[in-house]
Amino acid sequence: MNLTPEFEKKLDETITHYPVSKRSAALPLLHLWQEEHGFISDEAVEFIATKLEVQPIHILELVTFYPMFRRAPIGKHHVKVCRTLSCALGGSHAIHEFLKKLTAADGDKFTVEFVECLANCGSGPTLMVNDDLYSNVNTEEQAQAVLNKYS
Ligand code: FES
Repeated sequence: MNLTPEFEKKLDETITHYPVSKRSAALPLLHLWQEEHGFISDEAVEFIATKLEVQPIHILELVTFYPMFRRAPIGKHHVKVCRTLSCALGGSHAIHEFLKKLTAADGDKFTVEFVECLANCGSGPTLMVNDDLYSNVNTEEQAQAVLNKYS
């Protein structure tokens, strides 16, 4: 495993924010790891557990409980479909299903996730592709047109 000295320093510095119990740094460390590496591998679970002096199962249970943590690498373009109420009422479930099918054979290029609120509730259904936000994606044709920009 190749970790940059800067990244390791960042992890160690974060742990110092939790002087009473190192274990409390588990979630922040997992977020940092995913930000840096894109997903949480078994190796990452072991590494973080060792850093925090806990059993790997204590880290793994966090990774598997919280849906924002990924266990596999993501594609080049990260597509998020909002699943929260306003967008759900506008049809985001169907848009999500459509995009999952559309990209099923293109895992290296697209990863589609169904996520909680993207803070664009008045203009849903909302999509995000990487850092780009798309409002009022109401139809499969509109969803397809969004994806075409990244093809
Ligand atoms: S409910 Fe979809 S952006 Fe908030």
